[in-house]
Amino acid sequence: MEKLVIKGPTPLKGEIRINGAKNAAVAILPATLLIDGICTIDNLPHISDVLLSCEILEKFGAKIKWNTKNCITIDTRNVHTTKAPLDLTSKFRASYYIIGSMLSRKKEIEVGMPGGCQLGARPVDQHIKGFEMLGADVTLGNGTIYAKADKLVGNSIYMDIVSVGATINIMLAATLAEGTTTIDNAAKEPHVVDVANFLNTMGADIRGAGTDVIKINGVKKLNGNATYSVVPDQIEAGTFMLAAVATKGNLILKNCITKHLESITAKIIEVGGVVEDYGDSLRVYCERRPSKANIKTLPHPGFPTDLQPQMGVVLSLAEGTSIINESIWESRFQYTQELNKMGAKITAQGKTAIIEGVEELSGSPVYSTDLRAGAALIIAGTAAHGVTEVYNLQYIDRGYEDIEERFRSIGANIERINEDN
Ligand code: EPZ
Repeated sequence: MEKLVIKGPTPLKGEIRINGAKNAAVAILPATLLIDGICTIDNLPHISDVLLSCEILEKFGAKIKWNTKNCITIDTRNVHTTKAPLDLTSKFRASYYIIGSMLSRKKEIEVGMPGGCQLGARPVDQHIKGFEMLGADVTLGNGTIYAKADKLVGNSIYMDIVSVGATINIMLAATLAEGTTTIDNAAKEPHVVDVANFLNTMGADIRGAGTDVIKINGVKKLNGNATYSVVPDQIEAGTFMLAAVATKGNLILKNCITKHLESITAKIIEVGGVVEDYGDSLRVYCERRPSKANIKTLPHPGFPTDLQPQMGVVLSLAEGTSIINESIWESRFQYTQELNKMGAKITAQGKTAIIEGVEELSGSPVYSTDLRAGAALIIAGTAAHGVTEVYNLQYIDRGYEDIEERFRSIGANIERINEDN
């Protein structure tokens, strides 16, 4: 079994380049199934969710050439099946994008119910509502979703709940539909905008992404023949910003879009940190113990749920008592039990956590329970006094490329050990 062994405390200092966004990449890759042609995608994070997405696309008949570790050229002219490999698609959440893409491409698809981090119930009712309103028949049974349509016709769809996945999936199903589709109460995350930008680069006609209302004018064909670079990862950038604050470090983040980080920057300033905004890069530091703050996670542009665990580490070390209200997921506080093993004083009940700040954390063996919890535990281990061992690295490797090398490059005393060797 692999683990990360971290010795702290170490203030993180230096410069780090932010990679392409996981949650954009895992949607853009299946979106290539809408293209009857060849395209190149650059700035892909080299993470297991991207590798898994590529493996699924190849099962559908796509030809993929890796130009570099972070750049592929993909030929989707020969898509020969409408049945996704159940063993692969059940491994992660984003496999549901295969449905929207293949409804557009082949008007038929069968895919396993998506997997993904255990954050509570992860329904897909809004995805299905959108597909049905575009004219598809969708049936669920024995762990699979089967969708079929004679044709897809544009419609006006009002989302009952703001959903990143459903917004993107409906966009994928509407891009080649007849007529115009509007999505009201749409998700506005940077990765939603990036998928719309990718599709428009390949010949789609999508307007309003990033606002509450997205309008998609169906087109006949996407011809590809272009290169697209994935947007910098808002969540990875926020992870390193909060790592700088938690460890009283001083980091420069390169290749980030500071406009996407406004809610995180505001909270860092509120707790006593400093953020110097240079547009496509920033400096973040905190020279003193953070002050307490209250957090409510919300859809963009609110504070992202995917940075809630990382913020929980900062608040565990803050002066005073903080409250976190997790409004998106039912169970995203599992990491707090692990932080309490390190000396934190967190009481989590339902969607609320009360955090009584402590002077310092102490090293301990801890277990990652999901992707972002894993990142939070690495931050905690870097800030803590003593040795921390982080287990369940498979979660972390899904979303962060070369995580230990990148933390080591900014001063962390961290290494990956395989206990079986
Ligand atoms: C995406 O998940 C992200 N994953 C998640 O990031 C992120 O936490 C989430 O958006 C919120 O920002 C990917 O993009 C691959 P939602 P998604 O649909 O699309 C409810 C990470 O760490 N809902 O926006 O599954 C749902 O239960 C991961 O990178 C319905 O009720 O999230 C939740 O309460 C973890 N019905 C809320 O909406 C639906 O049909 C938001 O979910 C769909 C969602």
